[in-house]
Amino acid sequence: MNNKKILRLLRNQPIKWKRRRLNDGYQIKCGNKQIYLYRSLTSTNDTAKELGESGIPEAVIWSQYQLQGRGRFTRSWLCPQQKGLLFSMLIRPEIKANLLPLFTLFAAIIAVKTIKPLCASLPLGIKWPNDILLADKKLVGILAEASFSGANLNYLVLGIGINANLDFRDFSPGLQAKSTSIKIETGHLVSRLRLLRSFIANWERHYHEFRHNGFDFILPHWEKCNITTGKRVILNKQGQNINGIAIGINDSGGLIIKDDCGDIYELYAEEIELGQNMK
Ligand code: BTN
Repeated sequence: MNNKKILRLLRNQPIKWKRRRLNDGYQIKCGNKQIYLYRSLTSTNDTAKELGESGIPEAVIWSQYQLQGRGRFTRSWLCPQQKGLLFSMLIRPEIKANLLPLFTLFAAIIAVKTIKPLCASLPLGIKWPNDILLADKKLVGILAEASFSGANLNYLVLGIGINANLDFRDFSPGLQAKSTSIKIETGHLVSRLRLLRSFIANWERHYHEFRHNGFDFILPHWEKCNITTGKRVILNKQGQNINGIAIGINDSGGLIIKDDCGDIYELYAEEIELGQNMK
């Protein structure tokens, strides 16, 4: 990509792609990672999985728009053209399935480290397992998808959506009270390319230590970045609400909650609703 196009990306200006097919999948290097650039994709996670199947090394897939962006639990992730940062990390760690939740937490920690300097004193933190809230509203979602051959992981895709420059009216009426963007909260446009470069730089700065120390790396960062521990939570389990308090995470990244009868639950993929702080 020539400098002019990179500058237009930095300034959040639309890029003119001369020949769409040829330019889609254009690669730029960032640290040790190749970034594959796309103008529009069904979902960066889908393309990351296709590239993962084709055997490419670890990479980042970034699209300016998604036709069918996906969230957890078959929800969709909608974002207007060039307003959000929509990307997927394709990685190939040699790990067992039980460690996968730690990778989602790692991605969330890296996202907080990346966004924090832009949001100064605003409250920013991780709502277990994979949401980042800014001023109590959703700013970032993470969708992890893995491929295994037997017990061996082929690849892991961590799809990350950051509401960078969305305006209030860009959210559907049902989401306007629950979602936000960096622009809404700070009043400033952010460069999505700079945000992505900074995310990758933070990822590379901490990944080796995380791979070496696993949970011992995650725990202190979680304690600093999360807004879950110590809060009342509501968990919907098979149609029944369980009310309790989040008391921490276990060494696989699962959330430990104690319900109001004193029973302990360890959650791995469930969704919780956060209530008031009990600390
Ligand atoms: C969630 O909050 O439920 C997860 C949302 C994840 C959205 C991102 S955007 C980039 C990547 N591609 C997708 O289709 N989804 C993830």
